[in-house]
Amino acid sequence: MKNFTTTNQLQQYLAQLRAGGAAIGLVPTMGALHEGHLSLIQQAQQRGETVVCSIFVNPKQFNDPKDLELYPRPILDDIKKLEQVNCDILFNPAVGELYAGNESWHLNIGELEGMLEGKFRPGHYQGVTQVVHKLFNLIKPDTAYFGQKDYQQFLVISRMVAQMNLPVKLVMCPIQREPDGLAMSSRNIHLTPDDRQHALILSKTLNWVKKNFNPNNIPQLKHDAEKAISNEPGVELAYFEIANGDTLHPADNNTQKIVALVAAKVGKTRLIDNVLIS
Ligand code: PAJ
Repeated sequence: MKNFTTTNQLQQYLAQLRAGGAAIGLVPTMGALHEGHLSLIQQAQQRGETVVCSIFVNPKQFNDPKDLELYPRPILDDIKKLEQVNCDILFNPAVGELYAGNESWHLNIGELEGMLEGKFRPGHYQGVTQVVHKLFNLIKPDTAYFGQKDYQQFLVISRMVAQMNLPVKLVMCPIQREPDGLAMSSRNIHLTPDDRQHALILSKTLNWVKKNFNPNNIPQLKHDAEKAISNEPGVELAYFEIANGDTLHPADNNTQKIVALVAAKVGKTRLIDNVLIS
């Protein structure tokens, strides 16, 4: 695997690959890699692309400085994992390499800015779009791969690509889970053994809603789901929404594409999860 920390060297190398006819697939991450991240790399490989995985803990998307400080950064383990799955290129820049001093960024992402995750993490999607735009601009991938795990993030990035006419195809990849249902996340390492058990209520409740889904009973399902999660010890619900999969507005009995989304603090760790219902 080639490992670059500077944009210059990465771009020179990519230019050679492109001249040889390679298609480039980008998998942006913040590291602390798990099977979820690796599944995105495998999707890109299945499509015959040369894969660039970026590892960059983007300070602009953290609204809590403590969260940024505590974010895990096991770079040597990450490199091993990337080598095991035959990733072609790692791009692991320092903060100063991507952010050259004072710069401003604001993208109009409409209502998505203040809904669900946006409401609980003000400015988060501005930081996400700022860094993803930079990565698209300097890597110029043919395709970029993102997880359904961050469902709203995928919608926001799709909005950016459409609005700015960016020449990149986006692919949403399914959520990878632990055998007991917990969605894989870099933050799971912060869960105590007790938290780890309590956290299962999130995927269990999402599955229960999917199994019992009835378009005429959405408010009751939402209510029961909120209650089940709030009753779990050590779990503080932020939101549970049964939403239109395109707009994230609450679904009603005419909504075609439905997603149930949840966010909660389990112990000290904030987790999110979702399931596609139809
Ligand atoms: P990060 O949380 O590291 O996630 C990187 C990518 O992996 C995202 O597209 C995310 O949706 C996907 N992912 C995470 N857990 C997953 C799981 N269990 N199954 C499948 N995919 C999963 O998301 C970010 O980083 C950042 O916001 C980023 C896009 C890199 C911008 O900084």
